[in-house]
Amino acid sequence: MCGIVGYVGPRQATPLLLEGLKRLEYRGYDSAGLAVVVDGALVVQKAAGKMAVLEAQLGRVAFSATVGLAHTRWATHGAPTSRNAHPHTDCGGVVAVVHNGIIENSGALRTMLEERGHRFASETDTEVIPHLIEQFYQGSLEDAVAAALRELEGAYGIAVISAREPDTIVAARRGSPLLIGLGEGENFVASDPSAVLAHTRSVVYLGEGEMAVVRPSGHQLRDQHAAPLTKEISQIDWDLSTIERGGYAHFMLKEICEQPESLRNTLRGRLLEEEGTARLGGLNLAPEELARVERIVITACGTSWHAALVGEYMLEEMARLPVEVEYASEFRYRNPMVDERTLVIVISQSGETADTLAALREAKRRGARTLGIVNQVGSTIAREVDGGIYLHAGPEIGVASTKAFTSQIAALALFTLMLGRLRALSILQGREIVRALRRLPEQLEAVLTKRDEVEALAERYVRATNVLYLGRGYNFPVALEGALKLKEISYIHAEGYPAAEMKHGPIALIDELMPVIFVAPRDGVHAKIMSNIEEVRARGGRVIAVVTEGDGAITPLVDHAIAIPETMDMLTPILTSVPLQLLAYFVAVRRGCNVDQPRNLAKSVTVE
Ligand code: G6P
Repeated sequence: MCGIVGYVGPRQATPLLLEGLKRLEYRGYDSAGLAVVVDGALVVQKAAGKMAVLEAQLGRVAFSATVGLAHTRWATHGAPTSRNAHPHTDCGGVVAVVHNGIIENSGALRTMLEERGHRFASETDTEVIPHLIEQFYQGSLEDAVAAALRELEGAYGIAVISAREPDTIVAARRGSPLLIGLGEGENFVASDPSAVLAHTRSVVYLGEGEMAVVRPSGHQLRDQHAAPLTKEISQIDWDLSTIERGGYAHFMLKEICEQPESLRNTLRGRLLEEEGTARLGGLNLAPEELARVERIVITACGTSWHAALVGEYMLEEMARLPVEVEYASEFRYRNPMVDERTLVIVISQSGETADTLAALREAKRRGARTLGIVNQVGSTIAREVDGGIYLHAGPEIGVASTKAFTSQIAALALFTLMLGRLRALSILQGREIVRALRRLPEQLEAVLTKRDEVEALAERYVRATNVLYLGRGYNFPVALEGALKLKEISYIHAEGYPAAEMKHGPIALIDELMPVIFVAPRDGVHAKIMSNIEEVRARGGRVIAVVTEGDGAITPLVDHAIAIPETMDMLTPILTSVPLQLLAYFVAVRRGCNVDQPRNLAKSVTVE
């Protein structure tokens, strides 16, 4: 979603700001802009569309500036035009503000400010902030920003500069992530560590309600009550190459191909073969506390919600506990039945999704113990849960989630194994799961050797307008995820459905033009799904199936079968989802789509 970068120091700010913005492009945006202070005056450049447009515009102007802010905007209030792009300024053109989040009382504030003579140049909620700062300014930018923030309702991560204080950035956070990147004689402000990684690995994450004054020589922090604050410096433990494409055409392809490695990283040090269980150091839950849990609720959005569904099937089958899965956006407004005997698990790649974060806070408010399954270390969700499991999958840049999905399922399998062993699972069953998990990275390598086969298959379906994905049991969520991948990046309409449920509706759509993709490994529902394949064939549908190697029963029934190695039923989603990721990827590439930054989508959805 929106991205923020700010720089203050001795170097030329514009190229640094543009470079930082490029690192944030993956988050999804539809306009971009920057503001710098040149010879005591503010200069603002903004453009609708991608960064290249802004760069072309800047190419015509030469700035010498050592302080500045830049922003990529994902439109919420007001269309993605150059006028609505950030930074926004006050009437005097002295103060520039970039903002992530939504100001909920912007309508009332705007009316009040207009009555006092302020003139607005955009349709955004953000623009009230520079006008409020102008209204409150009495000689100190920091004090004026603090006064303005007291008027705001809603969520924000903001950075502010002023032509009157050209060595200062004021930054503040409530609801949207923000960090300070610490350099030598220079400092950065950013919404995401990727934006500063080329210059520093030392960062300070701002907490809720905190504000920072950042200058070349250092920074000062204040807590939500304006009291001075000192915070720990965190070190980013990944390097630049992990956020670069490294020879791949797209981040999405790179991340699909990285899955054997990302899975190894999720499992590393966590499998105890002898004891037939898993070691999960970050849960912060004693075995007795886990034993008291009567019910589990898993909440998430998007792809993470699909992983949660796989978790539901695993935990109910192996740990014999009732599990409910709910979209975070529904959970938070539904008066959910959650108390101290409920364990609420939140799953989020980014750790910043606004609805998931709000669901987590709601669960905590109701007294539930909370666990996070999160990829981004130090993210807000990771910091606010009682305990959790980090994925260690490495940064995921492609908007369509791939390696995080398979690692989320692996993390859920580890948790299922551990909880199952405390409850119903025998040591022998535990050891079987450990051995099956250990084999997975190598089996994933085997699946990835099917890349060319899937690419050739994609060629045949480039012109499809609708695709149906069907699965049962553990692979019903994979059908949902396969359909989501295709629609997200290729803009082909696709639906995922439980294979048997197809008879209650989608079967009406089937004809010889409609590809139907079955996720049908040899598992407990194999015979049942064969009948569903027959039902589609009887209506002339074209069938592609993901099957287990050597499956002589399904292979002859289908137009094309992609084989995966054999594993335990509960782990099949980790293998079956990969051919569907590849299929979506190759179809989208053939259709000329922007795979890594699909239209209208954002990597991390920080507004509700
Ligand atoms: C966005 C992304 C999806 C992701 C979802 C949840 O929609 O485009 O890929 O699955 O958010 O994100 P999270 O970071 O919470 O897993």
